[in-house]
Amino acid sequence: MVDRLESLFERYVSESYIFTNRDVLSHDFIPSQLPHREGEILRLGSILAPSLRKMKCSNVFIYGKTGTGKTAVSKYVLSRLSKKSEEIGGNVKVCYVNCRVAGTEYRIAASICSFLGVNIPFTGLSTAEVLNRFTVRIREVKAHLITVLDEIDVLVKGYGDRLLYELTRINENLGAGRVSLIGISNDLYFKELLDPRVLSSLSEEEVVFKPYTASQLKDILLQRAKLAFKPGALTDSALNLCAALAASEHGDARRALDLLRIAGELAERDNAEKVEDRHIKEAQKRIEHDRVFEALSSLPLHSKIILHVLYSADKAGKKGVTTGELYDKYLSTCSQLGVENLTSRRVGGLLNELDMLGVVNAQIVNLGRYGRTKQIKIKVPAKILEKAFKEDLYLGSLFNS
Ligand SMILES: Nc1ncnc2c1ncn2[C@@H]1O[C@H](COP(=O)(O)OP(=O)(O)OP(=O)(O)O)[C@@H](O)[C@H]1O
Ligand SMILES: [Mg+2]
Repeated sequence: MVDRLESLFERYVSESYIFTNRDVLSHDFIPSQLPHREGEILRLGSILAPSLRKMKCSNVFIYGKTGTGKTAVSKYVLSRLSKKSEEIGGNVKVCYVNCRVAGTEYRIAASICSFLGVNIPFTGLSTAEVLNRFTVRIREVKAHLITVLDEIDVLVKGYGDRLLYELTRINENLGAGRVSLIGISNDLYFKELLDPRVLSSLSEEEVVFKPYTASQLKDILLQRAKLAFKPGALTDSALNLCAALAASEHGDARRALDLLRIAGELAERDNAEKVEDRHIKEAQKRIEHDRVFEALSSLPLHSKIILHVLYSADKAGKKGVTTGELYDKYLSTCSQLGVENLTSRRVGGLLNELDMLGVVNAQIVNLGRYGRTKQIKIKVPAKILEKAFKEDLYLGSLFNS
């Protein structure tokens, strides 16, 4: 017994069979090369290059699905541009703000200021005053500030497009200095939220990032795997599988890298010498599980109640529930929980959202001479739903009874 314990400890102490450097696969690692994005890098570079000659450059709107390299490419081009400007004694300054991380309109404006060395108190000023100080400063230093607003849709969804409007107009009465904007979004419908004037100014140029194909993902993974894994610790077949799985969703490089990292960790825990197909498959299951769990946990209460109705029907062995049945059961669950119910129209709306999320499936069923009806079925594994809902303040009680 003691010896087995000793060897267990020893395995943990001794170095990994699998990784040389697992951090290379983490989200914050910035690779020095970005395979298959040469086109986008050059395109963005050519849009911004006039700034090196103190010329105006267009605002850019970048969009594409998640994990297609928008952030990585923008940061890369920005850092090269700023290096070049320093080299030639130019006046280009670059500024990167992630709108989701910054959180509020005020904090976004304040972060932009901080890139010019203007410190803005945490609260207390109006956003207009912050922009005022920003304008004064930019005139003072005569800089051409290239400002990236990443995840710009989060700003607009939360606060409207007022700040963007101000930023796109700032050059009009600046005199010296200039501001160029790069907006990034993975929400393709985001443009519809913008005032036409803001939209046309922000998207003077547009760069679209297409999803990676399986073979492109493979190259990206290969480049990272060389740095992350011991020689021979990753089988070819596992690498291919990983690229294929990530490509079958929508060519998301972040997803592919996550798969690889988790598979490596599983192999290590297994004490395996190599990462094999089974580790990738297991990693896929885990990621899927976590994703569904998070999606379910963060749903609003009434969507959870709707799902609970469908879950109960499924447990009772029903093939599906009609919209009428669903609403009746929804009403009785609401009264059981002591929460006020929504109208059947609102419930229909929530149901559509759940359908789009892929957690329920609604099908029109022909009932012959009785007409047609919608049959709704739950599409997530019962176990994950139970785990997610048992922790809910309201829904939890439904599982105890
Ligand atoms: N061409 C590439 N070569 C190497 N690594 C890449 C490439 N494209 C993306 N990556 C890596 O994949 C991950 C996701 O990329 P990135 O963060 O740029 O995606 P994004 O398009 O900004 O996604 P989101 O819309 O979710 O913000 C990062 O870890 C990044 O380093
Ligand atoms: Mg990004």
